[in-house]
Amino acid sequence: MDSIEPFLSSDQIAARLKEMGESITADYAGHDLLIVGVLKGTFMVMSDLVRQIRLPAQFDYMAVSSYGAATKTSGVVRVLKDLDQEIAGRHVLICEDIVDSGLTLNYLIKSLAVRGPASLEIAALLYKEGIQRVPVDVKYVGFRIGPEFVVGYGLDFDEKYRNLPYVGILSQS
Ligand code: IMP
Ligand code: MG
Repeated sequence: MDSIEPFLSSDQIAARLKEMGESITADYAGHDLLIVGVLKGTFMVMSDLVRQIRLPAQFDYMAVSSYGAATKTSGVVRVLKDLDQEIAGRHVLICEDIVDSGLTLNYLIKSLAVRGPASLEIAALLYKEGIQRVPVDVKYVGFRIGPEFVVGYGLDFDEKYRNLPYVGILSQS
């Protein structure tokens, strides 16, 4: 049986995303943004965050996979869907749900950087503190959390729980 202990409420998440949106709006003033969502987990974070960004923006998505049904990273990143748009000369902001080992973002940053964007930064709702296996520089972090496995608000365990409106800590017995 799975049990889920509430961890971050929808109100807490909304308040933090508003602050992040304000920082992003200020930092990119005068620029157009290309916001890149990393599917699938980011769909909820992205839709709520971008409504707090007051700038001309365009959107694209990548799909990568590094997890099967397990709660531990496999260390292997597979690109399931690349960007539709060219990013050369553009200000690119990657939007992620969570940074765990960092392997996914490290791989994405390396593969996008060679395409010559004007800038390339990351916004992530959650950042698991101190457990990165590779360095990742995340400019906009919603919440720094512990190593627990979390679900909800886009995050899944075995494709379940993405539609919970809050973030909870999953425990299995
Ligand atoms: P990383 O490559 O280990 O940093 O994590 C890659 C992906 O694993 C994230 O974008 C999530 O989709 C997923 N992931 C990592 N930690 C969790 C978690 O605690 N809950 C749900 N998904 C997670
Ligand atoms: Mg993800």
